[in-house]
Amino acid sequence: MAPPVRRQPDRDRFGAREAPAQIVAGRALVAGRLQPVEIALGSEGEILSLRRTQPPGPRHDVGESVIVPAATDLHVHLREPGRPDAGESMATGTVSAALGGVGLVAEMPNTEPPVTSVERLEEKEARVRGRAAVDVLLYALAGRGSARALALRAGGFKIYLSPSAPVDEVPSAEELPRWLEELARTDLPVAVHAEEPSHFRGVAPPKDPIDWGRARPPSAEAAAIERLARRPDRLRLHVAHVTTRAAVSRLRALGASFEVTPHHLLLSDRSGPDARFKVNPPLRPEAERAALWTAFAAGEVPALASDHAPHTLSAKSAEFARAPSGMPGVETMLPLLLERVRRGDLSLGTLLSAACDRPARWLGQPVGRLAPGHRGNFLVIDFRRRETLSADRLSSACGWTAFEGWDAIRPVEHWRDGVRIVADGEYVGRPEGRVVRPEFAPGAVSPPIRPL
Ligand code: DOR
Ligand code: ZN
Repeated sequence: MAPPVRRQPDRDRFGAREAPAQIVAGRALVAGRLQPVEIALGSEGEILSLRRTQPPGPRHDVGESVIVPAATDLHVHLREPGRPDAGESMATGTVSAALGGVGLVAEMPNTEPPVTSVERLEEKEARVRGRAAVDVLLYALAGRGSARALALRAGGFKIYLSPSAPVDEVPSAEELPRWLEELARTDLPVAVHAEEPSHFRGVAPPKDPIDWGRARPPSAEAAAIERLARRPDRLRLHVAHVTTRAAVSRLRALGASFEVTPHHLLLSDRSGPDARFKVNPPLRPEAERAALWTAFAAGEVPALASDHAPHTLSAKSAEFARAPSGMPGVETMLPLLLERVRRGDLSLGTLLSAACDRPARWLGQPVGRLAPGHRGNFLVIDFRRRETLSADRLSSACGWTAFEGWDAIRPVEHWRDGVRIVADGEYVGRPEGRVVRPEFAPGAVSPPIRPL
């Protein structure tokens, strides 16, 4: 058989230029500058080319608005399977993601029951099919079972170094190196909740976010990162929700990937007194928050991720010490940070690297850039349309946000495979989201894995 001919993205198999199915015109960040562009999309919604002008064809013109890739959120909890009164589902959480400009969510395995077997992965896949508005990658829970079997089905693994409801299986000092060895052999991304419980302090009883920060201090994060420092070379290590500048520096020196959340970037331990502001790891004092922001704005953080943890208000209204940790975020992550871009506190390029490009590469997905051959998954942003966030205008089923009253810029449009799923700020899509797994190019797994 003749070897397959490598097709150029906008040529058909005879080398003729493929006529675009449609063209989307607007402005986009090209070579570090916002410039007028026309994006040609193929019949399957893939990006054929990006040019100043395209040949005539069906056109959608967004004028001065800015076209950016849809975001990839490496860290959400959609709570399925879970209790019927959980604050979210695969259906509601992915519509919330779509409205927030997130086209791919990586869903955590600390569900009820947790994702510890191939059967549970299959069951979870069935909950995505026909119900999800955006694509979903499913993490499996690393534990004492075999990672090899789970790796045939999972999109990645999650390790909790401290218990996180309902997961209480955490690796001992002797177990962790063995877990990491086995996980490295799967070649899948491995996200770690890095807080070392032996550093937790009894603050009895914690009554506000300041106490919570004392109970789970930054030294717990630092110690957990040191436990990961001597990892196997080829392990695709990604540390979740880093809260301190020191951890940013250490992880960069170690060459590991990591994320920060919008709440650790924008909120401090004094932003609110009640359990809505209780998260794990905790919100930090203002000086630490500001230092984390500086590192992020300087482009030192590989990824932005929401840790969308949609607890209900009734769960959060329990006494502080007993209330669950976590806050919703998938719908507000990009809008809050786009507002920072509008204000001039952050460059659009830095935001798009952390929210779109690097997380998509980390998961081996052909999204996250406006590049030929990538899927036509992008957003239309109108920086003149600033809004005030309010829970009753958000779609997440949990019904609240810690960013009530904050300025934000929500996407006007969200396109998935060349089809609009959000138009004029409203969800107009269908539940066509798919389960995706990493597709790493052959040879891309050469150690050591550096953060992107
Ligand atoms: O605040 C958090 N909530 N941190 C986590 O790591 C877990 C999450 C949850 O599942 O609610
Ligand atoms: Zn989480």
